[in-house]
Amino acid sequence: MLRSNARSVQKLEPRIFETAMNKHRPPQDKVRSIEFENLQFAYPHRPDTRVLKGIFLRIEKGQFVAFVGASGCGKSTMIAMLERFYDPVRVQQEPTLYAGTVRENISFGDPELEKPCTDEAIEEACRAANAWDFVLSLPEGLSTQCGNNGSQFSGGQRQRLAIARALIRKPNLLLLDEATSALDTQSEKIVQDALKRASEDSERITIAVTHRLSTVRDADLICVFYGGRIIETGTHTELLSGQGKMYRAMCKAQGLT
Ligand SMILES: Nc1ncnc2c1ncn2[C@@H]1O[C@H](COP(=O)(O)OP(=O)(O)OP(=O)(O)O)[C@@H](O)[C@H]1O
Ligand SMILES: [Mg+2]
Repeated sequence: MLRSNARSVQKLEPRIFETAMNKHRPPQDKVRSIEFENLQFAYPHRPDTRVLKGIFLRIEKGQFVAFVGASGCGKSTMIAMLERFYDPVRVQQEPTLYAGTVRENISFGDPELEKPCTDEAIEEACRAANAWDFVLSLPEGLSTQCGNNGSQFSGGQRQRLAIARALIRKPNLLLLDEATSALDTQSEKIVQDALKRASEDSERITIAVTHRLSTVRDADLICVFYGGRIIETGTHTELLSGQGKMYRAMCKAQGLT
């Protein structure tokens, strides 16, 4: 069994090779800016279907960027590209909480496991994720048990704990795919504030994919995807005041204009 695995591994050929040009330019620890110039991509199982058909995008350090657009237009694929090339921290749509205390669940995010996080560091991450008030209101605070998959918390609370877990690492690239889609309006507003706070760090790039346009009003840059391309970019105000036909239509459909 092992041997046949080894054989199949040998058959995998990397598509990205070391060349004389890239040899001395490994990925940088600190993400300063991100640039895609005519990025094209097809999944290996469907080589004839290009999912990304020429993405041009430049993101600067400190920016909060939103990817919006209809289902299937390539947003999550873009997130996967960023994961391939950088070393980001990603928050999922339905975050997992583990059996254990709130403190343990947030500490999990810290890669230096042998050194437990201090309560001060946890508090800082919770504040940045807009979660501190509700954690304080719990009968046992950070020592509260999360229960089975955090079932005693609301969707919005689980999400904010997951954002706190991501922030404890002080990531300089934070990716959120559909961070708010499963939430009611009140929790959505709170998570929206959490996102805004999380993105305020001037060293951090935050990229959020969402179908709910109200959550990305404050973004520095909104990228409207359509059929594997970015067809409109700008702030909410810029896009509404002229350049964004598609964006305007999407806002209208969501009752935002
Ligand atoms: N692993 C995969 N293999 C082959 N095709 C894929 C794979 N993942 C996604 N696709 C295809 O790529 C296209 C873009 O998918 P992607 O998940 O990036 O869309 P999305 O914009 O995130 O959509 P949604 O808003 O529904 O999450 C779709 O046509 C999808 O079917
Ligand atoms: Mg997606």
